[in-house]
Amino acid sequence: MSEGNVVRFDIEDGVGVITIDNPPVNALGPGVREGIIEFVEKGNADPNVNAMVLIGAGRSFIAGADIRQFGKPRPQPPRRSTDVLEDSAKPVVAAIHGYALGGGLEHALSCNYRVAVRSAKVGLPEVLIGVLPGGGGTQRLPRLIGPKAAMEMIVSGRHVPAEEAKKLGIIDEIVDEKDLRGAAIRFAKSVASKRPLPRVREKTDRLAEAKSDPGMFDAMKKSIARKARNQKAPYHCIACVEAAVTQPFEEGLQTERRLFAELENSDEAKALRYAFFAEREVAKIPGAPKDLKPPRVKTAAVIGAGTMGGGIAMCFADFGIPVKVLEVSRDALEKGMQRVRENYAVSVKRGSITQTQMDERLPRIRPVERYEDIADCDAVIEAVFERIDVKKDVFAKLDAVMKPGALLLTNSSAIDTDIMAGVTRRPQDVGGAHFFAPANVMKLLEVVRGTNTSIETIAATMQIGRDIGKIGAVAGTCDGFAANRSRAPLVTEAMLMLEEGALPEQIDKVMVDFGYPMGPFAVSDLSGLDVSYDTRKRRAAADPNFRKLHVPDRLVEMGRKGQKTGAGWYRYEKGDRTPHPDEVVKSVIAEVGRELGIPQRTFTDEEILRRLLLASVNEACKILEEGKAYRASDLDVMWLHGFGFPRYRGGLMFWADTVGSKEILRQVEEWHARYGDRWRPAKLLREIAASGGSFREAKSAGTTG
Ligand code: 3HC
Repeated sequence: MSEGNVVRFDIEDGVGVITIDNPPVNALGPGVREGIIEFVEKGNADPNVNAMVLIGAGRSFIAGADIRQFGKPRPQPPRRSTDVLEDSAKPVVAAIHGYALGGGLEHALSCNYRVAVRSAKVGLPEVLIGVLPGGGGTQRLPRLIGPKAAMEMIVSGRHVPAEEAKKLGIIDEIVDEKDLRGAAIRFAKSVASKRPLPRVREKTDRLAEAKSDPGMFDAMKKSIARKARNQKAPYHCIACVEAAVTQPFEEGLQTERRLFAELENSDEAKALRYAFFAEREVAKIPGAPKDLKPPRVKTAAVIGAGTMGGGIAMCFADFGIPVKVLEVSRDALEKGMQRVRENYAVSVKRGSITQTQMDERLPRIRPVERYEDIADCDAVIEAVFERIDVKKDVFAKLDAVMKPGALLLTNSSAIDTDIMAGVTRRPQDVGGAHFFAPANVMKLLEVVRGTNTSIETIAATMQIGRDIGKIGAVAGTCDGFAANRSRAPLVTEAMLMLEEGALPEQIDKVMVDFGYPMGPFAVSDLSGLDVSYDTRKRRAAADPNFRKLHVPDRLVEMGRKGQKTGAGWYRYEKGDRTPHPDEVVKSVIAEVGRELGIPQRTFTDEEILRRLLLASVNEACKILEEGKAYRASDLDVMWLHGFGFPRYRGGLMFWADTVGSKEILRQVEEWHARYGDRWRPAKLLREIAASGGSFREAKSAGTTG
């Protein structure tokens, strides 16, 4: 019997059934490969066995290699389980349900046949964790389905549904969802005496297509150039598929192994593995009872049909949840619904959804004008104008009409949740559900915990996130919460560097080169300079020490509010979103520098990057120190999914570790001395630097809330 019984063997009707039982997802952890080898050999040696089935217990076939073992020394078994499967003298049938991913699909490809239930998904997603299929996947898949389709699957890493996998030729038969084992055994019996055994490595017919289309590899490289910049794995994947075409099978395997080894410990792979686990950790709510099962929201309501409200309503509709949109002005309601219709129509035009999908989704959004119409909804998300008096009024009304136990959530991006909770008789049910623009696109949902928000409300809001395809992350309530608060210093530094002579296009270029899809100034032009202008005015009125940001203030006062006015940090041609550097901005910058008497100087790219990111690292430390986020890795998830931080750099705090805590403290102290209080080093930063600890493992000292 294999180690820890992670693989079992039994015989039914002349078919040896090898069952992987390594919860939760049957990853190829210790003992699994050895178990497969042991039982394939046993089946071959047993005269009562005519054929074999490889199947997974629990919720999946095999989700791949055990990612936790990557980067650690692993004993190399004398024989590979994939080779042993493919060398079997008796036919082996892979029986797939749940997921056959990475090493899981590679094992299935090494079987002679593959059957799957309709709900199963297969894929080679290794590229998403910075490596490549290292168990023969890059050599077998092109032989089975042709290099072009294989390369698309391997380079995208996408999960392919069983029906499509059958069309591609990966799956031989789709079988009864309720009886995979029985169906696989019957299939195995039907092929038990068929010879020769089909072996993927021996297939050559599909490789020929590359000869008629020799440019396919270069074309693929070109098509991924923007998205895959600074990364190695996607290109190594292409090189491996090319090797499948140009090299004999065994040699191709050697190429695959060599390139896999090059990637396994690369910075990119380490960062992507970290991101994978950070995304799972973020779902865990410290202090929540183990048996806490949040109720599922069946009906939702959104207050406010503005851009944000409409986008939030679309999130629910997209995932099959009926949602009412409440707006007391009929005109605003009609305008909001029109915007939703237009957004869907654009998606249909772009091909990201079909007309049928649009026709299904739109009727799920019901416009209403009275609070009584939403009283029976399970959850309501307020997305009205960011003014405290307006918000208080909405929450008082919600408190009056909503059924007991309904979740009362606010999408406010800055206003303290406690203020809204304070006007209700049920503060335990009030919390934040902070979406990021555009709400129906960005994956982050910041779940804000007020002082009195119950853990049940937090868990239920996190569940809403899962149900509408978002990644929820918990933050405590404070000005800006955790995500925007940690990013705000980056934006401030960008603006202040201008006063010293840097230009928006230089700063944006540094960030794009670092891996962001857009720089902070291009983002500001997209969302509108007036939004932060209004916030600054409010803050300045309340705080006499508030640091004025002269350059953006002056641009807004000149009517340059971004793309919507044809000019902001850049100028735009009519109907075109390409930003063009603008002499006007340059002269405003020079003028402000002169007026303030700030000596103008040049910046290196390295200094710009550090000024921006270290300001945020320091703030992130303060956020953790104050208990406004549970873990540094939660902040990283927020940056990845809320702000487009390059995933292959792990996240802000993961990146900080690559610079080193001592060096960061030295730099922050230097800038503290030069620029004053905004660079005051966080206590946690000092502690991490003194102890030699890591940023990414930092946790909140207290409870979030
Ligand atoms: N290795 C180790 N742990 C894994 C794992 C893996 N391959 N896949 C999932 N897990 C763990 C998760 O960390 C999580 O643990 P936790 O409960 O302690 O947080 C648990 O399994 C459940 O995972 P999810 O919460 O992600 O469950 P879902 O049902 O939402 O998703 C899944 C399931 C789609 C399989 C998803 O977990 C996933 O995408 N896994 C990774 C798949 C992958 O990348 N496979 C390729 C691995 S590399 C490889 O095979 C190399 C080979 O070519 C040599």
